[in-house]
Amino acid sequence: MKTHQIAVIPGDGVGPEVVAQGVRVLRAAAERFGFGLDLHEYPHGTEHWLAREEILPDEVFERIGAADAILLGAIGDPRAPVGLIERGIIGRLRWDLDLYVNLRPIKLLDARYCPLKGKGPAEVDMVIVRENTEDVYVQKPVFQNQGSVDEIASQPMVYSYAGTERIIRYAFEVARRRPRRHLTLIDKANAVRAQDLYTRVFAAVGAEYPDVERAHLYVDAACMRMIESPESIDTAVTTNLFGDIVTDLGAMLQGGMGVAASANLAPGRAGLFESVHGSFPQAAGRNVANPLATINACAMMLEFLDEGAAAAAVETAVATLLTGGQIRSLEVGEHATDEIGSLVVEQLLGTVADPAAPE
Ligand code: IPM
Ligand code: MN
Repeated sequence: MKTHQIAVIPGDGVGPEVVAQGVRVLRAAAERFGFGLDLHEYPHGTEHWLAREEILPDEVFERIGAADAILLGAIGDPRAPVGLIERGIIGRLRWDLDLYVNLRPIKLLDARYCPLKGKGPAEVDMVIVRENTEDVYVQKPVFQNQGSVDEIASQPMVYSYAGTERIIRYAFEVARRRPRRHLTLIDKANAVRAQDLYTRVFAAVGAEYPDVERAHLYVDAACMRMIESPESIDTAVTTNLFGDIVTDLGAMLQGGMGVAASANLAPGRAGLFESVHGSFPQAAGRNVANPLATINACAMMLEFLDEGAAAAAVETAVATLLTGGQIRSLEVGEHATDEIGSLVVEQLLGTVADPAAPE
């Protein structure tokens, strides 16, 4: 029996609650599909930092990076300086493990979860490939004459050829495996002329993918299109900062932050799986946060671990609950966190198990 090593970082706010449900679903999938799970939990996050004054020690970082996959709840807590723990844990894992792909599917399962009039699952089905290791995120902020009326604050947008090429190539591969074979480059090269690098690399790499149709949108127009005609976007590739922004918008199209999931990937590395939502500190400990985003991230993890049948079963379980009305609403507080976990687990184990699967 194959056993997967999973590092689990529940993190801050509602992270531990939603991760607990994700772990239940992973265990149920392992039981049904006959694979092993070796879960190792790490307490790192704001609470740990407050108590121990450490964020993510090198030795812990190494151990997490050596796992097959990582499940992350959420990081962020108003008791810590803005961005300190987020950058120290999520940022560090993305950047120092060089997980250059942030894959964020936006797939609407039922029209009633979409805030757009007249749009349903046929119109909202896209994948955003967000660059994950460059851009303004990894540059130092500089404050000159801080606190004076002459203050100048800056943090540059920096893109390397290698970083641009690998994310664009990855996006073409994603687009090629989807039925529409259509890839949109989202940038702001008319204002941020440094992004001309994206324009040129997109054209050059695109020439190697004649079977993939190419399109281009400036990020402002992309936001407009995602609302006006989401069906015009299938696969899109974009920079780190713009990817962060458009995927929150995209999350709303598929039913909100309660369901949006993401995978941080690089070939040959541990994949890091997380919800798109943050730590939602106001809801922490109340058993009201929707764990479906984390559960969907777990489905992405199973796919990554080559447990395709298990991944599909989790996706089907979630889809059945959302379209069949057992989950009435994705609003916070409509269902308890653990209630949704139970529904998914029941759905997963209740359906007739594959007779070929080992016990
Ligand atoms: C995300 C988050 C992070 C990001 C924050 C927490 C630094 O918003 O994963 O989308 O900006 O990448
Ligand atoms: Mn974000």
